[in-house]
Amino acid sequence: MSLPIDPPPRLLMGPGPITADPRVLRAMSAQLVGQYDPAMTAYMTETMALYRQVFVTENEHTFLVDGTSRAGIEAALVSLLEPGDRVLVPVFGRFGHLLTEIAERCRAEVHTVEVPWGEVVPAELVEEAVVRVRPKLLATVQGDTSTTMCQPLADLGEICRRHDVLFYCDATASLGGNELPADAWGLDVVTAGLQKCLAGPSGSAPITLSPRAAALIAARRHVEAGIATDDDVPRGARIASNYLDLAQIMEYWGPRRLNHHTEATTMLYGARECARILLEEGLDRAIDRHRRHGEAMLAGVRGLGLQVFGDVAHKMTNVVAVHIPDGVDGDAVRAGLLEDYGLEIGTSFGPLHGRVWRIGTMGYNARTDAVLTTLAVLEQALRAAGVPVTPGAGVGAAREVYA
Ligand SMILES: Cc1ncc(COP(=O)(O)O)c(C=O)c1O
Repeated sequence: MSLPIDPPPRLLMGPGPITADPRVLRAMSAQLVGQYDPAMTAYMTETMALYRQVFVTENEHTFLVDGTSRAGIEAALVSLLEPGDRVLVPVFGRFGHLLTEIAERCRAEVHTVEVPWGEVVPAELVEEAVVRVRPKLLATVQGDTSTTMCQPLADLGEICRRHDVLFYCDATASLGGNELPADAWGLDVVTAGLQKCLAGPSGSAPITLSPRAAALIAARRHVEAGIATDDDVPRGARIASNYLDLAQIMEYWGPRRLNHHTEATTMLYGARECARILLEEGLDRAIDRHRRHGEAMLAGVRGLGLQVFGDVAHKMTNVVAVHIPDGVDGDAVRAGLLEDYGLEIGTSFGPLHGRVWRIGTMGYNARTDAVLTTLAVLEQALRAAGVPVTPGAGVGAAREVYA
């Protein structure tokens, strides 16, 4: 017989997922109610209102897509893009490539503007490409976890407005820990996940849609046979996914409560609690907290003599990447950290795999004790790997930031 689930105690200090806030786990252990129980529809309505505050938007169409963050990305792209539509993707890491590949699967004509990993894309380069390509949609990542870079978005919103381009952003890794006022920055669609700065598990993708994005999607509305009424006349090009069809999902979350999927009740409980925790603290204070602990971790890893990867001026607040010192087996060090100390940090993907470690300070783990413990443990692991380290230099440098 297999044993009940009893995971080992871990401090998850990688690029996400991170240790969930116990309040979120408690909310997720609540009993189910029926899909159209007034209690459930009230939770849905509350969740929409909470996420409007998280995204800093007035958008009516603000809700959850069931599935991990990439379900939110796919829902946005498959619902916005028709075959042959032109889309422009700034690529500055793995997740820009992901947007490209999903847009290609939507059979869009995809153009990219790329910079080396560790940099962000200058607004002039984006505008020059917008003028050349004349895309329907600009699709970008805000914080690309693979490189830790945070793409400035305010200028891009203005460029999109000037050239009448729709603006989509994947904020999975950044939302809640970095500024992202969707309306003020002219974003039409933003999607996210819970497992980073929002302190929850993966499995739910908050999304917000501007009125013009919602109108464009509603113009492709095909209600399923079996539930469609005579008034549900099909319009426009049918969205290529049923599960991720935002035209139907908007009506599922709207006053009509159109029957679509069975809402993932437990994930909704979790997502709702994530937003409640964030807003109780205050969005600005939460972003400041991520900044403060991110700065302490940055000072700490430098104190340990590690070299930081990428353009630090454009780093997300909530994750730092450091070069693995020459001659050190990065994966062996990470395995030792997990086995001996219950501490998880990450490496990265593609060209950075095995070359950098990524250390997060996000959500529930953007805390002084988590930062100092990580630095103390990392010092031991470096010393064991033969790297000369001044005793206490990492913790000391972080404490100076806190002082
Ligand atoms: C920026 C970004 N986008 C998308 C994803 C994919 O998210 P998920 O694994 O929840 O589908 C991640 C995951 O780390 C991410 O960091």
